[in-house]
Amino acid sequence: MKTIYRPTWTEINQDALIHNIDFFEKMNPNKIMIPVIKANAYGHGAINVMKVLYEKGIRYAAVSLLEEAMELRAAFDDLDILMLGPIMPDDLPVASMHRIEITVYDQMIYDAIMSSSDWLICHIKVDSGMSRYGFKKPNEVAKMVEGLQLANHVSLKGIYTHFATANDDEVFYQKQLSHFKKVLKAIKTKPLMIHISNSSSTLKYEKDYDFTTHYRLGISLYGLSLDQPKPDLMPVMSLKSKVAQIKELLPGDCVGYGATYCVSEPERIAILPIGYADGFLRRNKTGHVEIHGTKYKIVGIICMDACFIKVDETVHEGDTATLFGGIISADDVAKRLGTINYEVCTSISYRVPRRLTGGNHD
Ligand SMILES: Cc1ncc(COP(=O)(O)O)c(C=O)c1O
Repeated sequence: MKTIYRPTWTEINQDALIHNIDFFEKMNPNKIMIPVIKANAYGHGAINVMKVLYEKGIRYAAVSLLEEAMELRAAFDDLDILMLGPIMPDDLPVASMHRIEITVYDQMIYDAIMSSSDWLICHIKVDSGMSRYGFKKPNEVAKMVEGLQLANHVSLKGIYTHFATANDDEVFYQKQLSHFKKVLKAIKTKPLMIHISNSSSTLKYEKDYDFTTHYRLGISLYGLSLDQPKPDLMPVMSLKSKVAQIKELLPGDCVGYGATYCVSEPERIAILPIGYADGFLRRNKTGHVEIHGTKYKIVGIICMDACFIKVDETVHEGDTATLFGGIISADDVAKRLGTINYEVCTSISYRVPRRLTGGNHD
């Protein structure tokens, strides 16, 4: 039965995703990838993305929230699922029941874990300089590790940290790395899994590390990056909508809320059924969309469910517009909005269907 009716959608290119997986597996043949599929796989659709990863033999995933972890667990019974975000003490039984690996990030949760009667799989988080979650002092981490290793109801599976500047500030990156190494040195029996890299760190440094076992890959799995030069990756997501109506404007006619765009000569305006409630933010009003390989200007103010494009006589009702993921990239949109490609993808709202393309899904 048909469940999707609206002519606005994202295409999630399975072939591009596979290309990106192969790219990293070739780069790091001796390490295991942990795909980061939090925030609905950076907006790409967690379950569909995980299906592709699973078919490629990947059996690990990292998310941020317990809700995200449980959604994955319901679909993949034999997946190792690491929750990167903070868990609340009351929720430890839920993590245990669903076999979710949790992050030990501060004293409060350490105490709750130690006094829990549930079987818990843990990774200890080191704050090596980002001042986000985790323990900082080497001796403090060593004590926690020992405590967790002695607890009969705990499996301390891994230790990890996260970098703040792997894509740009090498000096700060090295400072974090050396802090993490100091922490490792203080630990008598190291956990089996050691994972420190995000996308930028994986691209630049991971192959030189002999002490890590896994790497956590987010944005570059989806073919995007903050690094320069851009790595040889393929963007996975494109955002599309079909022209719902063409308006032939006469001199003096105005467009949209606020009547901010008025014409002094005849113009053709295409209305796309996509707006800010879909994550196509009002600040896009200075941008362009692609139709038939040509860029056309967005005019007027973007509505909740629609936006206006100034077009020529070659554009017709029913034609497909690509808002990004074609000749206009997610990076172009990010630049337009004064943000990063991560935010462009994760902003696409739940109202926009994610269609898997490529492979045998076309
Ligand atoms: C703890 C942690 N690891 C890995 C990642 C993946 O980072 P990236 O998307 O830059 O690869 C993130 C993303 O924010 C994260 O928070």
